[in-house]
Amino acid sequence: MILTLREDLRGLVDSIDDLPSFPAAIQKATAIADDPDASAQDLADVIQVDLALTAKILRVTNSAFYGLSRNVSTVREAVMILGFSSVRSLAVAVSTMKMFDTKDSALFTQDAFWLHSTSSALVAQQLCQLALLPETSEAFTAALLHDVGKVVLDQYAHEAFMKLLDAQQSEKRILPETELRIINTTHSEIGRRLCEIWNLPAPLCEAIGEHHTPTRARHHPMLAMVAGLADYICSANGLTSIVHTGKPPDLSDDVRNLQIQPGVIAEVNKRFPHILEEARHLTSSD
Ligand SMILES: [Fe+2]
Ligand SMILES: [Fe+2]
Repeated sequence: MILTLREDLRGLVDSIDDLPSFPAAIQKATAIADDPDASAQDLADVIQVDLALTAKILRVTNSAFYGLSRNVSTVREAVMILGFSSVRSLAVAVSTMKMFDTKDSALFTQDAFWLHSTSSALVAQQLCQLALLPETSEAFTAALLHDVGKVVLDQYAHEAFMKLLDAQQSEKRILPETELRIINTTHSEIGRRLCEIWNLPAPLCEAIGEHHTPTRARHHPMLAMVAGLADYICSANGLTSIVHTGKPPDLSDDVRNLQIQPGVIAEVNKRFPHILEEARHLTSSD
């Protein structure tokens, strides 16, 4: 059967006039969290400018999840108690979620999408820690944003995206194959272009563009691998970004190539219920 191309969305991101910009505060917060000379106050100063973000960080810090014995009332205390990287992760996750306003539909809901993305970010963080990889903070962000192309499609090409999801459900193929047939591009490519326009670091753009094909990443395959593997682990545990969809392409060969020990993956799977609980805290609106 000859399959006809329905819509060509390769230039989608470049054609959007009102694309949200990546918050400068988050870029600053990331740089500070990676700077060994920075103080808790430095990170707090950047975050405190955003009142909604401050409120969310304090709410999450004081939630039962962290089990603190007293109430934390300043971002500086939160940084001192939870550590730089947790607060930075919280800030990145909360701000990214605020940037987009997805339209809930039967197959794609904002809650499921961000729970999948945030869990992937936390899984990526754990993978790096357990495999002793140095790129923990980039891996968190890469995994958080790995499917951001889907949100762009949902928001700026809603009809085509719905058509695509319907086709994928009935064809039972992996998503990138259906995407190429229906919109002549993939959510990975759309995500990569968005991150390039946002001026995010090149390894991060590449990881998002290649999260389903990490061995194709030329500059930093490990980062793409960790993002893709985190996505796979979440989906295998039933947490997909699209309702009723299957797992993404299997990456076991790539895992072997890039030498992530199977024991590391087993350990992350064991910790998954706890990771999911943390992701629910990060994404909850109350
Ligand atoms: Fe994906
Ligand atoms: Fe995903």
